Amino acid sequence: MCGSSASNAYGSAGTVKAIVSPPIATAPSIPVSNEALLWPDVESAVSREWTDAHVSVLLEESVAILAPTSGGTYIDCTAGAGGHASAILAASAPDGRLLAIDQDPSMLAIARERLTPYGDRGRCVLGSFGEVAEIAHDRGIAQANGIMFDLGVASPHLDDPDRGFSFQRDGPLDMRMAHDGRPSAADLVREMTFDELARVFRDYGEEPAARRIARTIVADRVRRPITRTVELADLVARLGARGGRVHPATRVFQALRIAVNDELGQLERGLAQAHEILAPGGVVAVIAFHSLEDRIVKQFLAERARDCVCPPRIPVCVCDHRATIQILIPGGLVPNEREIAANPRARSARLRAGRRVGALSVR
Ligand SMILES: C[S@@+](CC[C@H](N)C(=O)[O-])C[C@H]1O[C@@H](n2cnc3c(N)ncnc32)[C@H](O)[C@@H]1O
Repeated sequence: MCGSSASNAYGSAGTVKAIVSPPIATAPSIPVSNEALLWPDVESAVSREWTDAHVSVLLEESVAILAPTSGGTYIDCTAGAGGHASAILAASAPDGRLLAIDQDPSMLAIARERLTPYGDRGRCVLGSFGEVAEIAHDRGIAQANGIMFDLGVASPHLDDPDRGFSFQRDGPLDMRMAHDGRPSAADLVREMTFDELARVFRDYGEEPAARRIARTIVADRVRRPITRTVELADLVARLGARGGRVHPATRVFQALRIAVNDELGQLERGLAQAHEILAPGGVVAVIAFHSLEDRIVKQFLAERARDCVCPPRIPVCVCDHRATIQILIPGGLVPNEREIAANPRARSARLRAGRRVGALSVR
């Protein structure tokens, strides 16, 4: 698990003790607690049928921090199976509106079906959150009161061997979340140079045996390129670093997935664009699943939460820079043990959030 509740501002069982106040928006004060009974509609939105597709992580906490209100406008940048999206719509009844974005048409189809009960309050759009501002503007949304990111892949991605995300099931080495012409993982493994492969495994997977694995791939592919997930998993199991609780192929598969989908670049662009279109008092909430994502989110919030950006050698502030974000959960929030027991995929999640303060940039 990524961090622990003891090391941040939260008490046991993930209960939030201190969300920075006072809120600028007129959001109702809602207790953020895994124990909290939120809105009855939120509970019914999380029906068994849908949790079979994908169990939403930190769902109640995310909705509570976004504090949706009727009449508000919300964007779910990672619609997935529509868990967070439907909970936001339920909590913003009767008049809240939500734009749900996903780059994967098969996930968007699941989200669309799940949002059907909310009629035209929920709209689903195929696209990448790296262009969230454009997508919103094209649909007449200039500002949003809440923007949600629940990063990474959804359970159907991991569970379907044909998508090539899982090292535990044999399938084509694909890993593309969108089919927009981007190269697959097999393409990268076949075409990247030794240096490029080693850098991907090291920078995106923190794989200690990055160079050894890259060297073997490059040497072997002349004879027989790797095209299947189990072929790569077997090679990494032979050559990769051992020890720890995770399968030896975990880091290499994560690294390739990040590279195939430009996940870190998309996140940087998505956060910058979300900041542009957040209404004063609006909240951006982000759930990250590994340290590379979480570092980007943390830095994004920290940089915008600073009043002065003068170099440290200047004794008196001359920049007149003012913070545009108020950090809402210092240190972030991680799932409690009950959630992790029920959904082990939640174990590395961390929720961070910020509230937009100050003037909006003019577009
Ligand atoms: C963890 S799932 C979201 C699950 C969702 N919150 C729920 O409760 O059902 C992440 C989703 O984000 C999508 N996604 C990942 N990167 C994206 C991007 N750059 N743009 C749009 N969607 C993206 C994936 O296709 C996946 O469906």
